Amino acid sequence: MDYKQKIEQLKRQDLLRSVRDRDCPSGRVIKIEGRSLLNFSSNDYLGLASHPVVIGAAHQALDDFGYGAGASRLLSGGTSLAARLERKTASFKGTDKAVLFNSGYAANTGAIASLTDEHSTIFSDALNHASIVDGCRLSCAARHIYNHNDLNHLEELLRQSRSFHKVVITESVFSMDGDIADIYDLHLLCGKYNAVLYVDDAHATGVLGQGRGALAHFGFTPSDDIIQMGTYSKALGSLGGFIAASSSVCDYLVNTARSFIYSTALAASAAAASLAAIDHITAHTELVEKLHDNIISCRRALISKGFPVTQALTPIIPIVFDSTPETLRIAGRLLDIGIYAPAIRPPTVKQPRIRISISAFHEKADIVNLAGALSEAIR
Ligand SMILES: Cc1ncc(COP(=O)(O)O)c(C=O)c1O
Repeated sequence: MDYKQKIEQLKRQDLLRSVRDRDCPSGRVIKIEGRSLLNFSSNDYLGLASHPVVIGAAHQALDDFGYGAGASRLLSGGTSLAARLERKTASFKGTDKAVLFNSGYAANTGAIASLTDEHSTIFSDALNHASIVDGCRLSCAARHIYNHNDLNHLEELLRQSRSFHKVVITESVFSMDGDIADIYDLHLLCGKYNAVLYVDDAHATGVLGQGRGALAHFGFTPSDDIIQMGTYSKALGSLGGFIAASSSVCDYLVNTARSFIYSTALAASAAAASLAAIDHITAHTELVEKLHDNIISCRRALISKGFPVTQALTPIIPIVFDSTPETLRIAGRLLDIGIYAPAIRPPTVKQPRIRISISAFHEKADIVNLAGALSEAIR
């Protein structure tokens, strides 16, 4: 394969990406290539990634357990902190048990492939994250894609299916659109067709349901026919993924999920940071409230400038444009005046967009600034 040629082709299509590294912690203002930029690009929705409580817990774990885990969890890689985090996660999500993975990506790829076999059929939302798509690719199950958030289409596919093991997979908060799946009706539909509901709660954990996620947001108690996946890497400001479910699902994953078995365990400092983050948001409900205040302010500010924003009250607000060059031009103009809200392009999304990401660390003036700058940039 001629990689140089491939890169040239991506360049010509305005699709070549490059890495931009920070010289500072994740936060409201970040420093990239010597410039200070107001940050609207992070999934650190509660500002916990650089919170003293989270950093302090990670420091303590470094002193107590060292850095590297040294082996996979089934060998000697686990620590008492990992076990505590699993118990804490299960109680936070209202399930029997939870299992840690090294990332949300590893949780989805490992769990989806492990929990399904050639007798299963997966029904996956058309806008599900790449880690779900890859989990489906690794699975031996038959696969159907239903139109985004379209329960009628899903029902049509479920009705036609002869499979004895059906699994419906959806994100709760969609990562690039910020809309919320109707978990309540999805669960009813799954009940009607005897399907398991697998919910990727990556962008709802720490955000919806007082931070507990989508099930708490919709006001129902987890049951054995729901599998919740999540990550510690977004609103919880840490690293790692999890599956929270019944004991039998979790025990089965420990024995079969390849990304769990064949990978070195998470550093103890990551587990300690996640534990501290869950404790912190449970004790400080005002943090999630501050995030929601900021989400409302941002939606209002954007609407006042004439931007069509989605209904959902989530921290992900996409501003969709017709073409990639136009989106890049607008992201570039924002960057020129010190605002970092990068362009998201195909293949991550079909329609290019600026993905605005709101956090509790933003101040009201930042949000007014952003809306004004966006409105200027599109002129
Ligand atoms: C919906 C969704 N699921 C899973 C993941 C993967 O999580 P992690 O970043 O912890 O690997 C992401 C990350 O972008 C995501 O947006």
